[in-house]
This record gives sequence, C-alpha cells and structure tokens, in this order.
Amino acid sequence: MLESEKKYSQIKTLVDKIGHMVYCRGWVRSIRDLGSLKFIDLRDLTGVIQCVVEKSSVRITQESVIEVVGYVKLRSDKSGDIMLKDIEIFVHELNVINLASPLPIHTTTDGYEIKEEVRLKYRYLDLRRDRLQRNIKLRSNFVNELRGILLKRDFIEIETPVLTASTMEGARDFVVPSRLNPGKFYALPQSPQQYKQMLMVAGFEKYFQIARCFRDENLRADRGFEFTQIDLEMSFVSQQDVMNLVESMLIEAIEKVDVKILSKPFPVFTYDEAMKNFGADKFDLRNEEEKQKGVLAFAWVINFPFFKRVDKEDVAEVRDGKSGWTFTHNPFSAPIPEHEEWHLKGQNIEKIITQQYDLVCNGYEVGGGSIRTHKPEILKATYKIMGYDEDYLEKSIGHLLDAFSLGTPPHGGIALGLDRLVAILANENSIKEVIAFPMTYQGRTAVTNAPHNISNDQLTELGLKLAFMEIKSGVDLDRAIEDLIKSQGFYFQRIEHPNLSTTEDHHKANILDINENVKSLILKGKKSNKNYLFVIPAANKLDKKEVKNALGEDFEFERPEFILKQYGLEVGGIAPFGNLINLPIYYCSTLDSREYVNFSTGLKTTSLRMKTNNFKTVLGDLNYGKWSDL
Ligand code: AMO
Repeated sequence: MLESEKKYSQIKTLVDKIGHMVYCRGWVRSIRDLGSLKFIDLRDLTGVIQCVVEKSSVRITQESVIEVVGYVKLRSDKSGDIMLKDIEIFVHELNVINLASPLPIHTTTDGYEIKEEVRLKYRYLDLRRDRLQRNIKLRSNFVNELRGILLKRDFIEIETPVLTASTMEGARDFVVPSRLNPGKFYALPQSPQQYKQMLMVAGFEKYFQIARCFRDENLRADRGFEFTQIDLEMSFVSQQDVMNLVESMLIEAIEKVDVKILSKPFPVFTYDEAMKNFGADKFDLRNEEEKQKGVLAFAWVINFPFFKRVDKEDVAEVRDGKSGWTFTHNPFSAPIPEHEEWHLKGQNIEKIITQQYDLVCNGYEVGGGSIRTHKPEILKATYKIMGYDEDYLEKSIGHLLDAFSLGTPPHGGIALGLDRLVAILANENSIKEVIAFPMTYQGRTAVTNAPHNISNDQLTELGLKLAFMEIKSGVDLDRAIEDLIKSQGFYFQRIEHPNLSTTEDHHKANILDINENVKSLILKGKKSNKNYLFVIPAANKLDKKEVKNALGEDFEFERPEFILKQYGLEVGGIAPFGNLINLPIYYCSTLDSREYVNFSTGLKTTSLRMKTNNFKTVLGDLNYGKWSDL
C-alpha cells in the first residue's frame, strides 16, 4: 500500500470492511507464536482484533505499538451480526513503531492480584487493562450526562479558586506557601462551599461545578486526599426542591449508562430512623441478590442534629469545636425554622435540627447538602455555639457576614462525591479504580511519587525552614518526634529507663521487651559518603549482603564523632526518625511481625512504645526490605 493511501482505521470500524485492505495502529495485547505463523491481538481505544502474520522475522513484544496493513477476513462462515471476534486481519505489512521492554506488570488480567505500589508506579500500563479502560470511560460518560442535564436545566458552570483560604469541612487543610507573602499560606479548598454561596449573592441563581476538593484526612478505600464533587447551589429553593432535582438528575444519568436503580422515588429516612434501623447514617438497602446484580439503592437521610460533642481523638474536630460542640456537617447550614430561636439563644444545643440532607447509596455517603442560613445573626450564633468570639468571626468569615448584609437570596445546594458514585456504578470497592492517577495509601502520587524534597533555594525563597534543620541535639529530636506522633493522632507510651546502649544492657535491665526493641544504625556509603539510616529489630544483625545490594556500594558504620557533630546524637540515642534529620530510612520487614515497637527518641534514657503500624505511618517514606537476620 502506498504511503498516500494509508488512511488508518479504528478497529471497531473493521466489521464493515470485510474483504478490504486496511491500515490499523495500536498495541500488541498478546502474541501466539507458532513459528511460521504469528497471531497478534491488536488493541486500540475502540476494540481488539486478531492479526495473522505469516513468515515475519520482525521482533514484536507484548504491549509494543505497531502498525499493520492487511485484508479483513471472516474467521468462519458466520452469518448474522458480525462482531470483532468473528474477523481477523491477514497482515501484508507490519512495522514496529515502539518496541516494549519486558513488562513490569501484566495488563491482560483484571489487575486486582498486583500490588498497589507497583500498579501505581506503572499506572500508564495498568490503565491499559480492559477493566480500567471501561471504568475511566464510564466516568467520562457519566460526567457528561450530568453536565448535559444541568446545562439543560439552566445551570451555569463556574470555576472557583483552588488557591484560597481555609473553609471548615471537618478535615485538615492542605496548605501552599506564598512566595509573595513569606510566612503566609493559602489553603486548598476542602470544597467550594463559601464561593458557591457568594455566587448566589452575585445573582447566579443556579450554579454547578465539577470541582476538585482537597482534604488531609486518613485515607480509606472511599476517601482520597483529592477528590471530585458534582457541586451545585440554587437560590430561592427549599430542601425538597434540591432533593427532587438531584434525584431526577441521577435517575436520568444512571439509566443512560445502563445501571438499575432499586427504588424510585428514593426512600427518605430521618436521622433518628436511620440510627434506629441501621445503627448508622449510611446503610445498604440491597439484599444479596440485588448486590450480585449491581443494583443501586439510593436513600435520603434528613433531620440531622446541627451540633455534636467534639470527639477528642479527632484533631480537626478538636480544632473546630472550641466549646466542646462542633457542627455535624457544615457551619453554613440553617437550623429548621422551629429551632431558630434555640439556635440564636444557644439553648438545647443537642436538640437543634439542621436543614441538612445526605444521599446514601449501597452503604456509602455519596452526597450531602443543606439549605444555608442567609441571615448573619444565625451564622454568628453557629460560631458562638462552637466557642468563637466576635474577633475570630470577623477574621474568618467577616467576608460572608458582609455579603449577607448586601442582598443575599435564601439558597441551598448539595455536593455529590463523583469518585464514590462512579466506583459504585462500576461495581468497584475502591475509588482508586475509577481515578486515572490515584494516590497510594501512603499518600504518594501515582507514577511521579510525590511529595518530594524541595531545594534550599526554594525554601529560602518561600521564607521556610524545615523543622529538622533546627534539630541540633537529642533533646530537640525527642521533642520533634513527640510532636510528629501527636500531630497524627497516634497513641504512644513514654518510658524512662537507665542508659541501655547495648543489647546486653537490655537483657539485664529487663524494662523493655527486647523483642519489641528497635535499633537505629547510621551507615556511610564508602563511595558516595552519604549517610543512611537502618531500622532493624534490636536483637538482629544487619544482613551486610542485602544492605550492600540495596545501597549499590560498600558501606561502614558512621563514626560516633561525626554523628554527634552532624546530627547532635550519641550512639545509643539514635532515633529511627530519618525523616526528621534528613536521612533516608531503610526499614526492616522483620519488624512487621511485632504488634508494638520500642524505640529511642534521641535520648539514651528514654524510649517510646507504640503500635508498629502507626510507627511505620509516622516514619513516612520507607525503603522496605529484609535488612537484618538473627
Ligand atoms: P461533604 O463534606 O459531605 O459536603 O462532601 C460531599 C461528598 O463528597 C464526597 N467526599 C469524598 N469523596 C472522596 N474522598 C473524600 N476524602 C471525600 N470527602 C467527601 C462524599 C460526600 O458526601 N460543601 C459541602 C456540600 C454542600 O453542603 O453543598 C460538602 O463538601 O460523597
């Protein structure tokens, strides 16, 4: 075929081209090599087709990108509807455009069997598997349906800032340092809540946005640090109006992508009913058979209490609820009209009901919203109940209070969790399966493996100094470790003991369980002169061969004088927290069999004891391997 005649065909169109010469490009999904004959499954965005190659000496590997020219033939004498599996390309010409090296992960299975870290490291490969291609396309189709429905109903799509000020949604903020204002920080939005309310003040009576939100909270299968909301807000509406709109929108969009909904209209439960019937405010209404069939069971929950007692274990709640009371959902909601007076007077706080509604589906909370207060005195009363004074109000929500005195319509809205909805639609247990580049459970980005260090120049430009730069002694380190563990909300025990620098001393003193003790060693690479921190069970010895392999160079123990000079630490008081003294941590997998660990904090006479899993989390980024042996 001449270059000029090469017009390439998408694979799905080949069913109409039987008997024609075609030109296709794509990936090699699989190869069966029978010597003189090769069968290649060729995949593009639209489908997979078998290619038959005779007497070719061209080297092809799985997942290479190739182009073929050949005749489309029927594989059998099938009549009726012809599918891609019924035809093949008889190849005349084959070129390898990009030869793939041996693959680090398989792409032909559903992928659940592969370790998450590896899948996310090679996510662009992982995404080639059929299941993920389907999920990502489903997400695109579903969002398109929703967008179309909202636009048809006169909603206006408006973007709001991502570099912004903190809004209370009950989680920690991600913050971004400001170069122009050293020492000051933006917060990434936990939701567009305040801006969408200001858009109502601005007269855009129906707003929506496919909004990216950021929350620094403990990661779970249904929670990401960043996630997407279908966020909307309307003026002059009642709770029922918002619920009706969302319900009809979801039914229309979900039926378009061919998934069945259990009950229409969605059943409604009060918060009290939900707690009584299901013991929780999210629940699954499906029976086993409906679960098998992937049916969606939506329900509304309404009449939530406005406030709750602060959970002392929850850092964000303790921070938000100064008085011991905090909001259950959102400080901007309005109490029901019957409870407005209690609210204004701060009476019967536990009985005040808010005009909040949550949407539940198959056991997940997939949306939440409320009718807001547009009255400055009610918003002030909410903050007062949570223990904030006028001064704080002025600083944190003064702008909203101003806006509410300049012509604000009554308004309300909702945000749907897009990732959760699509995961449910795709019958997946984790939102990661419907996000192209999700994070690992350790909060590292797919492929690019952020967060990363930044250079000293960048730090200086931002007016920042890292805490570990300030650590000059064991006492500093001890304090920094305690702060770090507390900031993550983990429980630990502090144990004072005589100086136990050797394993022998430990045995003698019998204060700490030697099996739980962790030993931290600072090594020096002989070639690079770099320091490495190894964290191994105290009773074990370094496996020198493994360590050398991992470091890629010979090593020795760093000299005590240097350790004291460089890190302010004495041998016997070296802590495993390389993350606080700028050393890479090599963590020994043998420690995984311990439920608890004891470790030094930089002082020879102090150890902390905590759960091993929590310990690993606070250490952060680990090079993991079997670095020691008995
Ligand atoms: P809320 O905090 O309930 O409300 O969030 C709305 C919906 O977003 C989803 N969601 C998440 N999804 C994935 N990962 C997370 N970390 C995560 N956090 C929340 C849930 C949840 O129901 N501004 C209000 C909305 C409003 O009142 O209009 C808000 O953000 O499905």
